[in-house]
Amino acid sequence: MRTEWYKEDSFYQIWIRSFKDGNGDGIGDLKGVLEKLEYVKSLGVDGIWFSPIYPSPNADYGYDISDYCGIHPDYGTMDEFREVLLKAHELGLKVVMDLVINHTSDEHPWFKESRKSRTGPYADYYHWKDRPNNWDSFFEGKAWTYCPERDQYYLHLFSVKQPDLNMDNPEVREEVKRIMRFWLDMGVDGFREDVITYISKREGLPDGWPVPILGAMHHYKDGPHIHEYLREFRAVTDDYDVFQVGEGPMTWLRTAKSYLTGPGKSLDMMISFDHMVCDCLFTEYIPLPFSLLRYKRALSRWQYGLAGKAWNALYIENHDHPRVISRYGSEEYRKESGKTLAASYLFLQGTPFIYQGQEIGMTNIRLPDINDYADVSTRHNFSTYHLKKTIEERMEYIYRSSRDSARTPLQWSGGKNAGFTDAETAWFAINGNFAEVNVEEEEKDPLSILHFYREALALRKREKALLYGKYRLLSPLDRHFFAYERTYGGEKEASRENSADAGGTGDRRAAEEQILVVCHFGREPGTFRVPRSWRGRKARLILDTENRHTGAGEETLPDKLSFGAYGAQVYKACAREENHGK
Ligand code: NOJ
Repeated sequence: MRTEWYKEDSFYQIWIRSFKDGNGDGIGDLKGVLEKLEYVKSLGVDGIWFSPIYPSPNADYGYDISDYCGIHPDYGTMDEFREVLLKAHELGLKVVMDLVINHTSDEHPWFKESRKSRTGPYADYYHWKDRPNNWDSFFEGKAWTYCPERDQYYLHLFSVKQPDLNMDNPEVREEVKRIMRFWLDMGVDGFREDVITYISKREGLPDGWPVPILGAMHHYKDGPHIHEYLREFRAVTDDYDVFQVGEGPMTWLRTAKSYLTGPGKSLDMMISFDHMVCDCLFTEYIPLPFSLLRYKRALSRWQYGLAGKAWNALYIENHDHPRVISRYGSEEYRKESGKTLAASYLFLQGTPFIYQGQEIGMTNIRLPDINDYADVSTRHNFSTYHLKKTIEERMEYIYRSSRDSARTPLQWSGGKNAGFTDAETAWFAINGNFAEVNVEEEEKDPLSILHFYREALALRKREKALLYGKYRLLSPLDRHFFAYERTYGGEKEASRENSADAGGTGDRRAAEEQILVVCHFGREPGTFRVPRSWRGRKARLILDTENRHTGAGEETLPDKLSFGAYGAQVYKACAREENHGK
């Protein structure tokens, strides 16, 4: 039976190759994960999402899978995975796997067979054409590559080594279900589903608009059979108490609802992208100045849009984007902006995801040469865009945009190789700031980003208003402050919480609880004009980035709140009755 336990939980994303090396070969692995599970638990999260840990030639670092039911030898063995799963569960941590079924690796046995002939049992597992259409891939030029054995072209929306599966073939869908059951029967707690909105392509694969990248999207995004196929997969998870979070690049809110609501619901949450393009145009490779207004609008759109209907997946970092402090915050005010960014999203309605290293405020790396970068899309972008600029200028784009900035080894200490590995060198460059930015240092500093994440996650768990309360954006046009309130209680919310949808205990007489979150974005000190509805109310500072809240008592909220460079303050209103009519 499916319940909705994930609503009160939060997750830590592990991109294993750079998490922790346990066997001294310079590459992160399951042994390293096992060593650090208590650390993960100490953050106050409730589970782990593993980016792919399966066998893979690593053309796209794990997202090109050659065996869905195995473990990459770099990362360990299936027995070691079972050990991690067992220990995680003992610690009360759920484990969520990445399900990458839009494509496989070209080294997957299905593709090796498929490419051999037009008639074998795997011939229709992929999309083959005698003549390619005009689609572009995301990572490497045209989306079609010629295969001499078949004298045909195969489709790959991502790299050449990631052929797209033909989901219209029922046999392929059966394979997907077998893979899902394999992991579910082992005891995993859900799936993060990679570019899941792309798996159904329009019949005949017609030409798209002649616009690079975006051109043909209307032929494969939210395709004709997407809901039918996802419901088939949903029927598999119906037998287990797990959740499914789907990645939906460029999925607008209205479309997202078709996946998240109603009798045809096929996903519990959607990884949306609206708030990840507040400093760029579609991709980080076309940079713009960061706009707080866009950030607030994007997050608010999803908060209002899904309220009472569906549940948000909340994140500001993952393995696909450069580090958020370097983008939306300030490296100069790393600590302050790191905490502010945390407060800006952890208290929204939804299930938070925290990416490894985010909790200690890791920042982007600047490597001297493009050949020092490993990511296929980084290299491709470098050789494709801004070609008239100098190498130095082109490298500046890489520094702003590369996914590799989020994939450098996790900085555990100021020691050799940042405590990531005992090997002579790590598999990838370590950020030069590791002496000052590392877990050990963050543990020592009571004002650190790490401690702030712990406090914030604990607060979110304690406060029903932060879990289930109604969201309202305050001062929407303010360019320096992101302020919102969460209101919980009163008959309506209490009875909703009583329903299976919210999964809580419910108390019809619960008093209204209100929380105010104010986040200051900017290097210059700033003053926030407290909205009229909060002015003069009795409230308690329950969290702030400068630690003034510890021991803070009730106070009357002034007309203005003062902030230094960046910073966040969270207030809980006291006894609503006293404030009636204000
Ligand atoms: C989205 C994943 O998050 C990304 O890392 C990957 O490159 C693409 N999908 C293709 O699988």
